[in-house]
Amino acid sequence: MTFFRMRPDALRASIEADLSEGLLPACVIGSCGSTNVGAIDPIDELAGICEEFDLWFHVDGAYGGIAGLDPAYTEVTRALNRVDSLTLDPHKWLQAPLDCGALLVRDSRINQANYSLVPDYLASTNDEEGMSPQPWEHMFELTFADRSLKTWASIARLGREGVRKMVINCNNLARLLGERVKEARDLEILSPPSISTVNFRYIPKGTELSDGQLDTLNQKISDAIAHSGEAHIPTTKVNGAVSLAGMFSSL
Ligand SMILES: Cc1ncc(COP(=O)(O)O)c(C=O)c1O
Repeated sequence: MTFFRMRPDALRASIEADLSEGLLPACVIGSCGSTNVGAIDPIDELAGICEEFDLWFHVDGAYGGIAGLDPAYTEVTRALNRVDSLTLDPHKWLQAPLDCGALLVRDSRINQANYSLVPDYLASTNDEEGMSPQPWEHMFELTFADRSLKTWASIARLGREGVRKMVINCNNLARLLGERVKEARDLEILSPPSISTVNFRYIPKGTELSDGQLDTLNQKISDAIAHSGEAHIPTTKVNGAVSLAGMFSSL
């Protein structure tokens, strides 16, 4: 897929422009499965640029971080092993109950150096030397529910193979929906299938509707489907146009 992805040449140009103006870029944030269109940035190329300019490379894989379990997406997600940090939300595709967001960091000592604040009343629970295993040294929160348990439970329920099958199945459904949309005379693809998402809209043939009228019509379709209780196809906007968002995320 070539649309909706960060362009490495544009990234390089903007880093160089910043540097030439005396600004100091610090971080690049890429996507592995953007919310709207499921886009995956060219992670490997972005990682190379970040290395070259000594920039922190974060990737938002909250939704699509596990897409690589599908062989069709293994190659484009392989370079996730090069990032400095990665958002991964088990409460999205991994089916964990809310709320269960996660941040993986390559070097947790950096994370600890940023967040560590050990009040006297907790000091004795810390290790004397080396890395502290205490989670509050790595994040804002001090008291919180056991999120790792639900992550474990989700994976344990499905098993690695089950998660893999679910991801493949969702991606296949998006691909199939994309094919059906292309075949239909009065449907238009707004963003091609990428992982488990495809965006499209209804354009009745033989009518000359304005952009505004098409937006209203597609919103009404989404609302009617939701009210039917049979399915839920929410809307989003793609390049400013109201779109029916076909997103598959469960079994
Ligand atoms: C790609 C992506 N990143 C981040 C978020 C925000 O995640 P959360 O609601 O868990 O903070 C979302 C939620 O829709 C998302 O799809």
